Amino acid sequence: MGKITEFMEIQTANFVKSSKSMKDLPAPDLPEYAFVGRSNVGKSSLINCLCQRKSLAKTSGTPGKTQLINHFLINNSWYLVDLPGYGYAKVSKQKRKGFTSMISNYLCLRQNLMNVFVLVDSRLSPQRIDLEFMHFLGEEGIPFSIVLTKTDKAKKQAFAQNLLALQEALYQQWEELPPIFETSAVKKTGREELLTYIDQANALFKK
Ligand code: GTP
Ligand code: MG
Repeated sequence: MGKITEFMEIQTANFVKSSKSMKDLPAPDLPEYAFVGRSNVGKSSLINCLCQRKSLAKTSGTPGKTQLINHFLINNSWYLVDLPGYGYAKVSKQKRKGFTSMISNYLCLRQNLMNVFVLVDSRLSPQRIDLEFMHFLGEEGIPFSIVLTKTDKAKKQAFAQNLLALQEALYQQWEELPPIFETSAVKKTGREELLTYIDQANALFKK
């Protein structure tokens, strides 16, 4: 007998394609969720964690691993999207500009994008680039939620301080905050919460 789960479990996860620009993307006919954040924050690892696969999305200890818009089809009914990271200084200026416009075009124009998960390293105090990025999403009216990553590595006290500082920084711009998830790809923390959130959003998808 299979284990009884009370949340949407991922049965199938298949790599669909890597796209360089909008015209290469799969048809926008299924609900879609994108993972964004600074290079090395753990986007690809979290996608693997959700899918319970070791290397569906490519990960690396060296920032700048993911360079294209990668689509994964989940349960034949929705997409997870792994994006390149922003803010990595060692990528050439030209390439960085290219990434940034690719990501912002994608985020602003993708019709079936239900939610953007903005990943933030739970070990760090709020980073300006992350706050600016969230500001950009807010201005563009792109729905997002926040995912704190690598909580297995965070010291309890620093974690609490960072979270509070992040909330305070966000309250300077908004009256209401988006959901904030606490995750570890290593310990699978937050997996059920994220899948439940996605499941609920899937129900709202209109073609
Ligand atoms: P880019 O594609 O370069 O933008 O990076 P990314 O955000 O996709 O990060 P990636 O998933 O490749 O992970 C970067 C590094 O962080 C790897 O060495 C991972 O093993 C590590 N990592 C990711 N998530 C976790 C986590 O939850 N806990 C710990 N301890 N390490 C993690
Ligand atoms: Mg990556």
